[in-house]
Amino acid sequence: MKAAVVEHRGDVGSIKEIPVPQPGPHDVLVRVVAAGVNPIDWKRRDRPDQRLPFVLGQDFAGIVSETGGRVRKYRQGERVFGTAREHGAYAEYTLVPEDGQGQPVAKIPDDVGDADAAALPTAGLTALAALETLGVEKDTTLLVVGATGGVGSFAVQMARDRGARVIGTARAVNESLARSLGVDEFIAYDAGDVVARVRAAHPGGIDAILDLVDDADDARRTGELLREGGRIVSTIGALDVAWFAARKAVPENLALPTSPFDSHAGLRALLELLERGAIRVMIAGERPLAEAAAALEESKGGSVDGKLVITVD
Ligand SMILES: NC(=O)c1ccc[n+]([C@@H]2O[C@H](COP(=O)([O-])OP(=O)(O)OC[C@H]3O[C@@H](n4cnc5c(N)ncnc54)[C@H](OP(=O)(O)O)[C@@H]3O)[C@@H](O)[C@H]2O)c1
Repeated sequence: MKAAVVEHRGDVGSIKEIPVPQPGPHDVLVRVVAAGVNPIDWKRRDRPDQRLPFVLGQDFAGIVSETGGRVRKYRQGERVFGTAREHGAYAEYTLVPEDGQGQPVAKIPDDVGDADAAALPTAGLTALAALETLGVEKDTTLLVVGATGGVGSFAVQMARDRGARVIGTARAVNESLARSLGVDEFIAYDAGDVVARVRAAHPGGIDAILDLVDDADDARRTGELLREGGRIVSTIGALDVAWFAARKAVPENLALPTSPFDSHAGLRALLELLERGAIRVMIAGERPLAEAAAALEESKGGSVDGKLVITVD
């Protein structure tokens, strides 16, 4: 099969012919139709300790091609999506365990397209896990730092669906996009001081922050916007937990793979939101498998609006 493979340190990934993985008794072999692009795909590639060689990507949508002898939930020909952390997703085939242990999988409803399904898992589950951790509900005032990217675009919509008031940051040119997602108060990070603007509008402090961008120093400054007892989540491990706790805030460095939302139930929750129109998937563009490395460079550039998807013929 064709796959985007990384063979050595510094290799950005290129298309190679490799064997189709063979399903064990509990595995589902999937013919990949689309693969979602996430920053973790290039971060993993660029890690000095990444085991080599490996197939790029993790989020996939496709068709069950073969099942192991003990598989009960999935049948050949069914459409499925999920996260294939072990075998990768930028390939003609991938393999996931039926029970989704550490690699969630679920069936795709007929009215959900392949690109949308492939774009959902990592970003959607992270948004869901973050909002739960932050306790976002009706009338929560939530700041999303990085509101128009993969995770942010889902988090803004989900927060609005819960009745929260959402403050969102992005580049100034993305204001209409952010507002179309449901941002109530838009703040351009390239046109002034975000923290000063939020503080002026909310002198009593805000309830919650989902920070998808800031490093440790910036996260501390942003965190000072929280009211006493307010909560903050970072998806990039930027929070000095002791520092926040000393200020009576509730911090969490979220890691999706250890969250209960990284599961079949989590994927079903995303589908429920999608099917009742509470969220839509914002596709930034579709790229053929042959352009996988270029798609990763786009993602690494840091200004993709919504989700990039790789299509596999
Ligand atoms: N810990 C976990 O389990 C986990 C899970 C998922 C994601 N993550 C991480 O979370 C981060 C976000 O993921 P993602 O998929 O949403 O990435 P993404 O799609 O690349 O989105 C990042 C967004 O950040 C915005 N941005 C860049 N600089 C900014 C700034 N100074 N202020 C405000 N916004 C800014 C960009 O918007 P503009 O175009 O407007 O600049 C872009 O839309 C990544 O680092 C990813 O690796 C971690």
